[in-house]
Amino acid sequence: MSELVYERIKANLLALNMKNTLEIIDNYLERAIADKINVVDVLDYILVAEAGAKKNRAVESQIQMSGFPFRKTFDMFDFNFQPSIDKTQIDELCTMRFVENRENVVFLGTPGVGKTHLAVALGIIAAQNRYSTYYINCSALIEQLNKAHFENRLADRLRHFAKYRVLIIDEIGYLPMDINGANMFFQLIAKRYEKNSTILTSNKMFSQWNEVFSDLTIASAILDRILHHCTVISIKGDSFRLKERKEFMKSKDKSSNTLFEQAKD
Ligand SMILES: Nc1ncnc2c1ncn2[C@@H]1O[C@H](COP(=O)(O)OP(=O)(O)OP(=O)(O)O)[C@@H](O)[C@H]1O
Ligand SMILES: [Mg+2]
Repeated sequence: MSELVYERIKANLLALNMKNTLEIIDNYLERAIADKINVVDVLDYILVAEAGAKKNRAVESQIQMSGFPFRKTFDMFDFNFQPSIDKTQIDELCTMRFVENRENVVFLGTPGVGKTHLAVALGIIAAQNRYSTYYINCSALIEQLNKAHFENRLADRLRHFAKYRVLIIDEIGYLPMDINGANMFFQLIAKRYEKNSTILTSNKMFSQWNEVFSDLTIASAILDRILHHCTVISIKGDSFRLKERKEFMKSKDKSSNTLFEQAKD
């Protein structure tokens, strides 16, 4: 192959944004020529690799845009530590049927039982499946809506949050919400109702949500819409953070004891 043709191939790969092919072409062409691989197989290999790399880049950028606080998956979750979780329910959620059916998911439980971890793990699968996905903490959400309200662009902001196929609203109930906040929260839930899926986490039982939203009527209206089509995962167990802390302290005690023993010797 002449140098001119080779340079033209590279220039066109760049123009077509075929980054993966640009990277592999030198070695691959050399090998393909040496191994006498036929032209159809060469084309097939290059296109499969390019399409795969493109998909991976799209998934990666979808995950980046989702605003997850960390990247944790179901593989990283120790289900033996939380036996109250019904694994078949989790497996069903992982099929993403709930997104297709525009249903919601609520994770309930005391601090450290893994609510955020599970919500994010589910969000990552949604992003991998190319559903527009966004994570936001409840108080940050209310803050943003409040700001939009004062700037006279609440309707716009509500439309923005309503459009995500999967919206994760984390930590409902940690900070109190005033009636205006509760009102805007209701408007968002009403907009998303039966249109898109919302994943929510809370440390408060549903019976306490009237305190969270500081109004019984609004709390009932919110719950009514969320729970109409919803999987509720109520986690009853110990905090994983505490378990890790205890293990850390134990290992620290052990190592200081060993040092003490060595010093005695
Ligand atoms: N069963 C588990 N297996 C592995 N890691 C876990 C498990 N449960 C929780 N973790 C880890 O423990 C930490 C706390 O979990 P997470 O943030 O999900 O708790 P949470 O229920 O959201 O708590 P909070 O109500 O305080 O927000 C995270 O780093 C999470 O990855
Ligand atoms: Mg959390």
